[in-house]
Amino acid sequence: MRVKNNIILAMDLMNILDAYDLSEEISNYINTIKIGYPLTLSEGLSTINIFKENFDFNVICDYKVADIPETNEKIADLTFKAGADYLIVHGFVGSDSIIATKEKAEEYEKDIFLLTEMSHPGAKKFLQPVADDIAKMGVEMNIKNYVAPSTRLERLSQIRDIVGKDSFIISPGVGTQGGDPKKTLNYADALIVGRSIYESEDPETAIKNFIF
Ligand code: XMP
Repeated sequence: MRVKNNIILAMDLMNILDAYDLSEEISNYINTIKIGYPLTLSEGLSTINIFKENFDFNVICDYKVADIPETNEKIADLTFKAGADYLIVHGFVGSDSIIATKEKAEEYEKDIFLLTEMSHPGAKKFLQPVADDIAKMGVEMNIKNYVAPSTRLERLSQIRDIVGKDSFIISPGVGTQGGDPKKTLNYADALIVGRSIYESEDPETAIKNFIF
């Protein structure tokens, strides 16, 4: 995966017209976006193809899939059928649930990202204690793509050590959540940035603050 300028825009807008306008404004600087529930539940899965057809973006669907294997498989099928390139999947549900999404991704010649530890403060209580084990499980499962937090660099560094230098880590939490983008890129391959860009009066200038 090649992420232009190491920036993935978290497109957490609730309206496709706003998302389209923002894409036009910054498409010279990025080639990858992340769509989550805000846009998908507002406007539907068909938004994925709007970004692909008009901007040729890589689209990562951040649905944090966390269900039994049979349901995970259905979610993955719908997401890849709609045109997604990647799907973010929770690790804490265990290897069988993850395999269900990975095998479905492979049918479409696409891939998943395994979510290890999350970036928000609440993640410390339940997810942080098992995050290293999730990452180790990912390595055993031959997973190459991971999500790990920029808000706790020591944790990001530890997860990098576990998954190895050849894995691809994307990291949310820079900007509004307080993570340092430059330091994050010492350990991660790409930054996930949302509000610092889409809530800015001048997204084009805002995005340049994340280019090093
Ligand atoms: P902001 O506005 O904080 O947006 O720049 C961050 C984006 O990333 C998502 N997010 C996460 N996704 N694991 C994930 O898979 C995480 O730990 C995590 N933390 C934040 C958030 O939903 C938003 O889209």
